[in-house]
Amino acid sequence: MELSSFSSIFLLLLFAFALAEVESVYFPGIYQSSLKKIGKTVKPKIPYKARYFPQVLDHFTFQPKSYKIFYQKYLINSQYWHKGAPIFVYTGNEGDIDWFAANSGFMLDIAPKFHALLVFIEHRFYGESMPFGKHSYRSAKTLGYLNSQQALADYAVLIRSLKHNLSSEASPVVVFGGSYGGSMST
Ligand SMILES: *[C@@H]1O[C@H](CO)[C@@H](O)[C@H](O)[C@H]1NC(C)=O
Repeated sequence: MELSSFSSIFLLLLFAFALAEVESVYFPGIYQSSLKKIGKTVKPKIPYKARYFPQVLDHFTFQPKSYKIFYQKYLINSQYWHKGAPIFVYTGNEGDIDWFAANSGFMLDIAPKFHALLVFIEHRFYGESMPFGKHSYRSAKTLGYLNSQQALADYAVLIRSLKHNLSSEASPVVVFGGSYGGSMST
């Protein structure tokens, strides 16, 4: 009898710890609103450097206004990498890329084994990657450029540019993502 009440207290404690754990973990897309609240107070500390890539607004219609440039944020960590080794790319989904990087430890864990370069690319219209600055969400005129086709083209262009700049065109690229970002990876 005593033993069983002891073990149920133990189980309860475990459950409480598990809950506390869940609250500090970010699941892309699901806890976005609670995350935003936390996001205003603290920024996660992450082992990545932020860079900004000049990206074109529209990859599919070849008009003068298509070539407007915005700055797409990406995070990079090259401490394990050597030329020719794989590039691990996280295809960002709907949110600030720092948060996805802070909660995707798996890529960082396996990077040393593969000598991988780690890259997290922010999705257009999220975080700092705003094609029209603070007016990005103003109307259909601006929001028309927020879609998965454009975002996938952003990733393709950025990855090719990165490989070119690193003179490592032959590097295999392995993509990672969760939720909508996982569909993008696929
Ligand atoms: C590659 O280099 C060009 C020229 O310096 C730069 O504009 C571009 O942002 C770089 N690409 C990436 C992915 O950083």
